[in-house]
Amino acid sequence: MDNQSAHGMWSSRMAFILAASGSAVGLGNIWRFPYLASDNGGGAFVLVYLACILAIGLPILFAEVLIGRHGRKSPINTLLGLSRETGHSPLWAVIGVMGMISAILILSFYSVVAGWTLHYAWLYLQQLLGGPGITDGGATFGGMLGSPKTLLIWHSVFMVLTIGVVAMGVEKGLERSVKFLMPALFLVLLILVGYGVSTGHFGKAAAFLFTPDFSKINGDVVLAALGQAFFSLSLGLAGMMAYGAYLPRSVSIPQAGVAIAITDTSVALLAGLAIFPVLFNFGISPTGGGPGLIFTSLPMAFADMWGGIAYGLAFFLLLMVAAWTSSISLLEPPTAYLVERTRLTRANAAMLAGLLVWAIGIVTLLGFNVWSEVKIGGKDLQGAIEFVASDIMLPLGGMLIALYAGWVLDQKLTRNELSQLSDGLYTAWRWSVRVVSPLLVLLILVQKFSG
Ligand code: PHE
Repeated sequence: MDNQSAHGMWSSRMAFILAASGSAVGLGNIWRFPYLASDNGGGAFVLVYLACILAIGLPILFAEVLIGRHGRKSPINTLLGLSRETGHSPLWAVIGVMGMISAILILSFYSVVAGWTLHYAWLYLQQLLGGPGITDGGATFGGMLGSPKTLLIWHSVFMVLTIGVVAMGVEKGLERSVKFLMPALFLVLLILVGYGVSTGHFGKAAAFLFTPDFSKINGDVVLAALGQAFFSLSLGLAGMMAYGAYLPRSVSIPQAGVAIAITDTSVALLAGLAIFPVLFNFGISPTGGGPGLIFTSLPMAFADMWGGIAYGLAFFLLLMVAAWTSSISLLEPPTAYLVERTRLTRANAAMLAGLLVWAIGIVTLLGFNVWSEVKIGGKDLQGAIEFVASDIMLPLGGMLIALYAGWVLDQKLTRNELSQLSDGLYTAWRWSVRVVSPLLVLLILVQKFSG
């Protein structure tokens, strides 16, 4: 007998894989991965990143999904219920509380950055219709950051889109939107890779990404790759736990998890193969680009290339769709929690949670202009929020989830949830969540605090 979640259920294995991949594939793949790879030695970074996904990312992904499926509620109540059932302290629910706070904080700046992509898509659309073009990417980027009004408009539009989907519920909102958006995302990505192949610099880009120079692997590269593995697979804030709660018992978690990890990793690699050939073609060095790589350098290449305006429009729409399916997964846990704890309808709960995120987002966007003087630990407001949420709270959350699955949950329970694994693979999983993953994550945290 399969018990059901009160919030709804994924209608098929495919629906879950699409939704969870939609969460994983986001700004992290298309904007963050290419620039991290170029700043950390290209192939060397990619190799370590792949190793991190396999050794730590996948095991923690299995852990989140299986905890969610066993509890069938929002992460906080799932952890409360499971802890009670197994005779452990309800304090473990702090993982869910921390995760919800991280989700709200991450979404507050994620939405602002997603707003940038909407603004750029809008500029390219106007240009396509005969309007003025983006001739200086740096000036366009700077002008946008300097205008609270522009940032606020697009941040608000993006939040309305996110709230709209979550308000409609698991099947009618989340599932229906990803079924349409994820294939669209793949199509645009493949067209962009096709363009990259046609530039004649594809080989150079592929060599850059896939030829590891082992001498470049050092502590910093390993830690950057590990952090990116977490962020990119949406781990550590119990978002995958929330999605696991709607997963039918018949679906194999290892199989679905591997499909999600493969999708996420291929999109990151494909994004690199779409972006680097274009940059190389126009003689732009990708190194040291940071967040500006996509918003300042790439438009310079678009301005020069044949069909560049349409390409620019497609690219920024792609980025926006990727961000959208990730934001849904960030708003779902607080929404589900509000539905469980209050008498609010799902639509009102999504609106309330979304309103909170929107308000915090305003702090982020004012940090780029009106409050640009305000610095916390040498970072602007967005940088500070991003640092606390992604760099500290996600790894900490991931470590606790691994420990919870490895030491608190009964071995019978986890063996049963992962029944498709062979004995050897199950043992490997258990050792990863008990020892290997927590230890490695501890290493990142120590490095962050000491560095
Ligand atoms: N995985 C998303 C990305 O790569 C970001 C994200 C992190 C989404 C955590 C949900 C939870 O952009």
